[in-house]
Amino acid sequence: MRESITTKGFSGPLKGETLVPPDKSVSHRSLIIGSLTKGNIKISNFLKSADCLATLEILKTLGCKIHFLDENTLELDARNTYIAPKKDLYCGNSGTTMRLLAGLLSAQNLKCTLSGDISLSKRPMKRIIEPLTRMGARIKSNDGKAPLVIEQAELNGIEYTSPIASAQVKSALLLAGAQISKSATTVLEPHLSRDHSERMLKFFGSNVQTYRKDGFFASTISHTPLIPKDLHVTGDISSAAFIMVAASIIKNSDVILRGVGLNPTRVGIIEVMQKMNAEIEILNKTLRCNEEIGDIRVKYSPDLKGVEISGEIIPRLIDEIPIIALLSTQAEGITTIKDAGDLKNKESDRIASVTRELRKFGANIEPTDDGFIIEGKNSQKGLFMGDTEVECYHDHRIAMMGYIAGLISEKPCKINDFEWVETSFPGFLKVFDTLTSK
Ligand code: S3P
Repeated sequence: MRESITTKGFSGPLKGETLVPPDKSVSHRSLIIGSLTKGNIKISNFLKSADCLATLEILKTLGCKIHFLDENTLELDARNTYIAPKKDLYCGNSGTTMRLLAGLLSAQNLKCTLSGDISLSKRPMKRIIEPLTRMGARIKSNDGKAPLVIEQAELNGIEYTSPIASAQVKSALLLAGAQISKSATTVLEPHLSRDHSERMLKFFGSNVQTYRKDGFFASTISHTPLIPKDLHVTGDISSAAFIMVAASIIKNSDVILRGVGLNPTRVGIIEVMQKMNAEIEILNKTLRCNEEIGDIRVKYSPDLKGVEISGEIIPRLIDEIPIIALLSTQAEGITTIKDAGDLKNKESDRIASVTRELRKFGANIEPTDDGFIIEGKNSQKGLFMGDTEVECYHDHRIAMMGYIAGLISEKPCKINDFEWVETSFPGFLKVFDTLTSK
């Protein structure tokens, strides 16, 4: 049984500065890609959240030596070799763990089973099974869903055009391709999804190339030995997004978020907030371990307006859509979100869960097949009523969206199973306590 929390009703301004948690996508990759090198790697600012710890435990089961030097720094003794596991490799709630490791392990000479929790076991895996099988992988599944049983196979490189812009699909194929010497693997995607794998592979010396081909975004890779190097994980803009939105809709707020990853394939939230008239500023931008990083200042923004969000920007803000939906309820006019049908395949069906939960607060939100139509604050009373119970559906981002809705509500609201927040944002409540006590 997971614990619930109750918000206090409207709480006023968020002030001060804070670090945001390390990036979840980059933390997974630091271990997975790092394990393909040979040598000692120090990974600093690693996200010790439930999802990333699932990846860490699996790599340990596969024989990787990993130990923490302090709270968020770990040492990985990488061997580029894995031992056959004696138990199922349990991915918990984490799609990134399952899909990326399926790519890595398809090219290995061992048999293993990747399993997941009730939410992950409902999510589509055909999107990786089909192209990996075309490469020669032998993967059995439960009708396209977990558990995935992977058996020994010899893989060949292929050129694969993905129907969706998915970093997990792209990364699964690149991780398989990174282990194949005799032929190259190319992944083409219609829009550019997050490119952390490509950047990190390059950082470790891979020959991966990224380019445009026939209107698609292409990445090509073949085996090159990777060189071990210490790596620092950037702060997670997807976690920062909850604070950014809260600061922009809570009167008199002014916060600075330090050390946030500003990879162009992740900053869709900043572009949308700027288009909506949010007072948001980027400071101290620099490059670290082949990833852009910097600080974000956000102030209360009284003149937010509705916008249309669609097309190429969707993969660059896919995880932020629940909190953008909440933001849109506080803007003047209508916000339309299109081309985001893959929201149905996240930790919950986010089209359904966002609609259901925001409606409880009085939001005027209509679900569509690939997004939402949200009427802004002229259609409601400004502040939400609260006095409701939020459900999380095993989905951390719904838990956090519910909490921010609670922060701007007149009356307290209860968020059931709030501990799901641990999936990506340990210390979430502490950050908000610090910013509200200034
Ligand atoms: C992720 C990619 C995205 C994102 C997920 C993390 C990754 O999923 O939604 O939270 O780390 O590669 P898709 O690849 O399914 O779009």
